[in-house]
Amino acid sequence: MNPKAFEKIEMPGVKNIIVVASGKGGVGKSTVAANLAVSLARQGFKIALVDADLYGPSIPMMFGIQNERPSGGTKDGKEVIYPIEKFGVKLVSIGFFISPGQSLIWRVPMASNGLIQLFRDTDWGEVDYMIVDFPPGTGDIQLTTIQKLDLTGAIIVTTPQEVAISDARKAAAMFTNLDLNVPILGIVENMVWFTPTKHPDEKYFLFGKGGGEKLAHEFRTRLLGQIPLVMEIGEVSDKGTTIFNQPDKTIIDSFDSISHLINEIVQVKI
Ligand SMILES: Nc1ncnc2c1ncn2[C@@H]1O[C@H](COP(=O)(O)OP(=O)(O)OP(=O)(O)O)[C@@H](O)[C@H]1O
Ligand SMILES: [Mg+2]
Repeated sequence: MNPKAFEKIEMPGVKNIIVVASGKGGVGKSTVAANLAVSLARQGFKIALVDADLYGPSIPMMFGIQNERPSGGTKDGKEVIYPIEKFGVKLVSIGFFISPGQSLIWRVPMASNGLIQLFRDTDWGEVDYMIVDFPPGTGDIQLTTIQKLDLTGAIIVTTPQEVAISDARKAAAMFTNLDLNVPILGIVENMVWFTPTKHPDEKYFLFGKGGGEKLAHEFRTRLLGQIPLVMEIGEVSDKGTTIFNQPDKTIIDSFDSISHLINEIVQVKI
């Protein structure tokens, strides 16, 4: 075994790294990662967001920068990548470096090497929180990244359905695995209820109730927040803007309260 295999990547200016993960695809990881990043940036923190989803990078579209490419340069004799900045967030996506279709033929070791290189070769500057949007599941890419990064903790995103919870449990267990031992900062339950415009006081729990709470209890962590199923959340992502640019204050509050909680938790540990 190569002793370097478990050496952590050094990113000297980066104070905290938080991974957003889930077992199941499509539960809202990227939505949570992107909006938490912007919410923290709006509070004055220096934020970076890394899209580590090789098979379906979505951060470039959510930030409306799909046609941009980060610039490169040389620093201290080493080639570096400069992140793109938008909404106060330094952004890098693995999607910038793979042409369409190419991701599918990347073998896993190559894919994780590419990702590690992305972390190592980017000139991050000073960063209070680096948020990493993970691909779904518990495969080799996730494991390698967890081993290589000095993580502050993980946030697990799930929807309330039993299938999603059971996959989220597997993702959570990957972090708490004794060898990795990454703290789970909390659970975010997404698409929890729906409120029709004509009945603003009603909440329809379309996918069941209590799953996020149960999972949090199981892993002795907190339920950081519950996000309703709201059309605007999907719409802003498709338009390359954020929930902070739409008028519904309750949507903004649901993400702000999660980011405040995260900051409370992490500050305690600094
Ligand atoms: N609370 C919500 N209300 C309405 N739409 C939502 C909500 N959360 C996410 N969505 C939409 O659901 C879709 C999936 O969300 P997202 O891409 O964030 O999930 P993901 O877990 O990152 O998916 P993947 O596993 O493919 O990376 C997107 O179109 C997104 O805009
Ligand atoms: Mg995603």
